[in-house]
Formats: sequence, structure tokens, C-alpha cells
Amino acid sequence: MEEFAVGFFRYSPLLIVLFLVSHRLLFLTRRKNKEHLNLPPGSSNEGWPFIGKTFDYIKPHPATTIGEFTKDRLQRYGKIYRSHLFGGPTIVSADPDLSRFVLQNEEKLFEVSYPKRLNGVLGNFAILLISGDLHKTMRNISMNFFNPVRIKSQILRNVDFNVKQTLKDLPVDSPFSAWEMAKKISFNVITSQVLSMTSDDPDHGWLSKEYVVFMRGLSSFFPVNLPMTPYGKAVKSRHRILKFLSKKMNERLKIGGKEHDDFLGMLLQTNLSDEQKLDFLLSILFGGYETSASAISFAIFFLEACPKAVAQLRVINETLRLGNVVSYVHRKSIQDITYKGFFIPSGWKIIPMFSAIHLDPDHYKDPEKFDPWRWLQNKNPGDKFTPFCGGPRLCVGIEMARMEIAFTIHHLVLNYQWELAERVMAISYPFIRFQKELPIKVRPYRCMEDDIEHVSNVKSLPN
Ligand code: HEM
Repeated sequence: MEEFAVGFFRYSPLLIVLFLVSHRLLFLTRRKNKEHLNLPPGSSNEGWPFIGKTFDYIKPHPATTIGEFTKDRLQRYGKIYRSHLFGGPTIVSADPDLSRFVLQNEEKLFEVSYPKRLNGVLGNFAILLISGDLHKTMRNISMNFFNPVRIKSQILRNVDFNVKQTLKDLPVDSPFSAWEMAKKISFNVITSQVLSMTSDDPDHGWLSKEYVVFMRGLSSFFPVNLPMTPYGKAVKSRHRILKFLSKKMNERLKIGGKEHDDFLGMLLQTNLSDEQKLDFLLSILFGGYETSASAISFAIFFLEACPKAVAQLRVINETLRLGNVVSYVHRKSIQDITYKGFFIPSGWKIIPMFSAIHLDPDHYKDPEKFDPWRWLQNKNPGDKFTPFCGGPRLCVGIEMARMEIAFTIHHLVLNYQWELAERVMAISYPFIRFQKELPIKVRPYRCMEDDIEHVSNVKSLPN
């Protein structure tokens, strides 16, 4: 007995190692079998170590297309395929049912999974990056702010005012950047809604310049935090913006916090920590700026070639479908799942790719053509139209974004004729960039109108 005990203890480390190895082998074999049988087609080991095929996937391509890599994979494997993207095995979904399933089961079967580098710029409490109770709390605060009453009264007037202000001094007959103009509109709207800032505020110009640096770093794929890298510059810019927001918060607190009816005012009445409030402010400013500006620019870009549609103003959905301002979102599975016979292992990334659905000829005839009239028949596209995502993470700025596009086009059409000054393309990388910042030329049509009755009649199209 004694001999057995001595032997056992002498060899126990070896036994433990043997046990762990055989357990791991068993696990891998089982998983391999499961994977082998049911994983979506494709290869989750393709490409470079860690990076896999990420650069092929995100390679700049015209925003009104899905890009060569996705085109090739969809042709080879169908609408659900696997690859190695963003640092791990990934399933890409161009299938509306699977995408809906993923988005609707947020936090039950799937959760957000953005690349870690975004935390350094957006902050650990950015609404896009967090889950659980804190996400629900922040979401409720933003939904309270963007409530229908505020949208119809306050936000509508504010958008109308800012659009008119920006359009009133356009240079006639000499090219200027429509992208800059669109950014000005959306920046003025979001900063006045969030911080009650007006365009003549001394900090306004400074903040918009900081955003350029911030955005450049956000879209950089090399998260090296050095003074000269775009990422490093964006991290610095984030700190400067937060310092500015913190100063605004303190000024408000000194006057009791109730002076202004804006997002900051609402935030100051919550129990969030200061760090959470600052990241939240940054999230709303970031979420409501370039996205809307891209959508407005797309509307100008597409409509120039489609004057009949200008007369009809039936364009917002078609602009969002073809422009794909946000072409995909990042999720990961949090348990093993089988869907439509495909095995999705726990921990794998899954990418609902909206652009691949919006540009799929099975759902939209001649998908790469700008055709606003298709929406006359296609009144309820459901899961086949998700420019603002869906489920518990549906964009909170939908109505405001739609208003910004509708009012800009409305006032532009009323007052100017426009044309592209040069043939340029919109590129997805994956943020939208217009070549040469979308140069256009305008000529006055008739005088700006003052009453806003007509704009309140611009109806929201179905989401
Ligand atoms: C055309 C313009 C816009 C588009 C295409 C767009 C698209 C999206 C998409 C696809 C998401 C989901 C991200 C995900 O689930 O991972 C999202 C979320 C979000 N958007 Fe927008 N957005 C637009 C305008 C705005 C505006 C104007 C605001 C600002 C008020 C805004 C604020 C947000 C916020 C705060 C979230 C996070 C919601 C959450 O996680 O619960 N967006 N947006």
C-alpha cells in the first residue's frame, strides 16, 4: 500500500499531464468531428497567421459593391461561409435569416465583438463596445433623449435650421466639397443636440478638427500607440476631446446642470460615473457625425445622376441600401449553436454583412443601380434592409439621420441645381471615403424658403 502511495505521488505530475493532454485531445477530436461535419463551407485557417484574410476582406472597394473577396467567396461557397478574419475563425453571413437570428439573439447566443484596438480610441465604456446592464442603461438614456416628442419638436427645427444655415452661402458655379458640406451639417446638428454648441462657438472649429485625427486613427488597422502613428495620434486626440467634454461637464455642474435641454443635461442627471459619462458623450458624438455625413453625401452623389428622383424625393431608403454607410457589424457566438444545419462553434466571430444582402440580386433587381422607384413595390423589405442594424442594438439615431438626409436634399432641390464637378467614386475602407471629397458645382434655383411646414411633411420611409 505504502509502495503504491509513493509511486502514485512520484508519478502524479505525469498522470496529470497525461490526463490534461488526453482530455484536450478528446475535446479537439470531438470538435474536429463536429466542425468537419457541419461548419459552413470555406476555410477558417486561410491566410496569414492571426491576420488571416482580413486585408482581402477590408480591401478598399467601391462602396456600391461588395468587393472582390466577398464576391469570390459568395460565388464559391454560398451566402454563409467561413474564413479567418480580424484575428480569428469567422463566419460571414449574407443570409438575411441568419443575420436576423444573430442580431435578435444579442447577449443570449451572440454578443458584440469589435476589435480590441477600438477600445483605445472609443473608450472602454463606448456604447458600441459594452454589453449587459450598462449597455441597457445607456441605451435607455439615449432612447429617452431621442424620443418621438423631442424629435418632432426640437430636433426637427434644429436640423432644418442647420441645413438652411449651411446651404445659404454655397459658392455658385465654382466646385466645392459636398462631403465637407455634409460633415458641417451633421456636425452642427449633433454638437447642438449633445452640447448646445452653435457653429459660432469658439471651440466648434477646434472640435471638428480633432475629429479628423480621431477618425483617422479609428480606421487605422495598426494599433501601435506611438506619437507618429495615426492610432497614437487618435489616442492623444481622444484625451484632448475628453478633457474638453469634462470641462463642459464641470461648467454645467457649476450652474446646476439644468440650463440646457440637451444630451449632456440629461446625462448629468444619471448615476453613471464620470468616466462612463465621458465615453458615452463621445459615442453619441462619434455615432452621429460621419455616418449621417456619409449618407447625406451619398444622396447628393446618387441624385445628381437621377434628376427625376429628385422631383419625387423617394430616395432615402435607396441611398442607404446602395451606399451601405455601415456595411457590416462584429459579433461573436457565446455558445455552440447549430443554425440551418451549420455548426457555429462558441467563441467564433460572426459578421452579419448588410451590404451583401443589400446588393444581392436575389433580393433587389439590378442591385448596383440607383433606382428609388423599386421602393414603390418593395414597401416592407424586412430583414433584407438593415442599414441601421436590428435587434437590441438598433441604431438610436435613425430618425435624426433620416431627417438630416431628407432636409438637406429637400432644401438643396428647392434652391439649387447641382452636378458632380468630377467623376469620382465612393470607397468603402470600411468607413466611407469619397474621392476628392466629392466635388460638386451648384447653381441657384430659387430663393430659400423660410417656413418649415413643407419639411415637416417629408414622411419617414419604412426602416
Ligand atoms: C445614416 C446614418 C447612420 C447609420 C447608417 C447608422 C448605423 C448604425 C448601425 C449599423 C449601428 C449598429 C452597430 C452595431 O450593432 O454593432 C448603429 C448603432 C448606433 N448608432 Fe447609428 N447610424 C447612423 C446615424 C446615427 C446617428 C445620427 C446617431 C446619433 C445620435 C447614431 C447613434 C448610434 C448609437 C449610439 C449606436 C449604438 C446603439 C447600441 O449599441 O445600442 N447613429 N448605428
